[in-house]
Amino acid sequence: MFETLTPAQPDKILALIDLFREDPRTRKVDLGIGVYKDAAGRTPVFGAIREAERRLLADQESKSYLGPVGDVGFTRAIVKLLFGPSADTSRIRACQTPGGMGALRTLLQLLHRAKPEATIWTPQPSWPGHAGLIAATGLATRSYAYFDAETHDVRFDAMIASLKTAAPGDIVLLHGCCHNPTGADLDLAQWGELADVLTDRALLPFIDIAYQGLGEGLEQDAAGLRSVFAQVPEMVVAASCSKNFGVYRDRVGAAVIVGRTSGQSEIAAAQLLGAARSLYSMPPDHGAAAVRIVLSDAGLRGDWEAELEGMRRRMVSLRLGFAEALQRQSNSTHFAFVARQRGMFSRIGATADQVYRLRKEHAIYLVEDGRINVAGLPEQRLDEVARAFVTVLGKPPA
Ligand code: LMR
Repeated sequence: MFETLTPAQPDKILALIDLFREDPRTRKVDLGIGVYKDAAGRTPVFGAIREAERRLLADQESKSYLGPVGDVGFTRAIVKLLFGPSADTSRIRACQTPGGMGALRTLLQLLHRAKPEATIWTPQPSWPGHAGLIAATGLATRSYAYFDAETHDVRFDAMIASLKTAAPGDIVLLHGCCHNPTGADLDLAQWGELADVLTDRALLPFIDIAYQGLGEGLEQDAAGLRSVFAQVPEMVVAASCSKNFGVYRDRVGAAVIVGRTSGQSEIAAAQLLGAARSLYSMPPDHGAAAVRIVLSDAGLRGDWEAELEGMRRRMVSLRLGFAEALQRQSNSTHFAFVARQRGMFSRIGATADQVYRLRKEHAIYLVEDGRINVAGLPEQRLDEVARAFVTVLGKPPA
């Protein structure tokens, strides 16, 4: 049987976990996988989650099945977090999923069932996980212009021009905030213009939102999604709680459907649960139950928001500090984009060879496409890390 298989290509992001762990150099720096790190380099459990878990263990009466929809208290709370507390939810249906990836996969399967001939458009570049998930469902895929590697900003006019070539009924994958891997986001006016194009051309927005609260703030990071919701007749959303609740390994996410009518949403949601059943049957309970407890208790919610805001501010200050260190080390403002961008990631502009040299010669780990996770920057050693980058990348023009 297995003699027919050829060696698998390792996932370029996940492979870094082992490479970093096995590196014996004590001054190694992990700018690889997208997990938040505190000043001591740890990925902490949120205080509010810890307390919610304590309550969960004390109060949980059964571990019987919840069914493919998962914890409905959790999904209701996530819908409010995404769409706002006063949003009209009559056309919204949601299902708990194993992480954001589970949400993406089930929604893609649903869309394939609804319209197998549709093409899904993804930004150039996008998170590498998207390609594998789309390929698994069989939907055709194309990319739309998004990031300008020279200016490090969004090529908004080119983005709109590419989307105007999409066929009615095509799907447009959008990063809700903190674009992964570039850190370059649309502003609110651009979201509004985009929503007009999506509506005029009958394109279905598919918003992947995995970093709400880590860009500009909880409300601001959902503003683009909300402005799309206000304008379009239909959309889907894949949400992840891995980063903003720190429950990475517990696999907590939600798949959300907005249909033209409540009846259509109901039918689509039932099909979505069918897809879930065939893929993984039911989502794991524990992490979503902890998130539900946090979001439904005013005290815990306040603690969570404060901790999340602290993480966000720390990343903004690391961005500023690193941009300044890069300026000092390179005598150039070339790297100012690092301070301008938002969320966990920036694309520093390194080739695969340079990424390899940074790892080999300086024990600095980043993804092969030149993506850095700013949360992994050691705040006391920013100049040392910046010097290594400038040494390997070469001095940019002053
Ligand atoms: C990342 O982009 O590093 C994270 O979302 C982790 C992952 O699954 O790739």
